[in-house]
Amino acid sequence: MENFDELERKIAEEMRKVYSPKVIEHFQNPRNLGSIPSPDGFGRVIGPCGDTMQVYLKIKDDYILEVKFLTDGCGTSLASGSMLTELVRGKSISEALRITPDDILNALGGLPEESVHCAFLASDTLKEAMKDYLAFKNEPWKRVYTHR
Ligand code: FES
Repeated sequence: MENFDELERKIAEEMRKVYSPKVIEHFQNPRNLGSIPSPDGFGRVIGPCGDTMQVYLKIKDDYILEVKFLTDGCGTSLASGSMLTELVRGKSISEALRITPDDILNALGGLPEESVHCAFLASDTLKEAMKDYLAFKNEPWKRVYTHR
């Protein structure tokens, strides 16, 4: 048991050398992980690394009431998706459309160079979800006989 504790301590120490406290915290305790049934906006993007992210939005009067995400990607994609949801929730559509990968990276306290694309994946997936929302905004019933 002592060896296990020692191993855990070493892993945590190594992680702290590479990732900011915010990244580690969001990776270990991701916010808003999951899906929303019948979302008002849905995006799914496969990143250049082959990992997928999905973003679900619940929107009322042009404000994002609820946002959830799923990913099959790495730890930093979990942290990026989690931070994205924190940045997006409660925002207006126009504010959410202005969220960039840099906003996610800054809020996370940065990512190692090789993981920066994970923040882009989160931002791209949000954009897809927003596009989906805007496409059906005025005629939401069309979802029934289109892709969902
Ligand atoms: Fe694929 Fe991070 S999302 S490596």
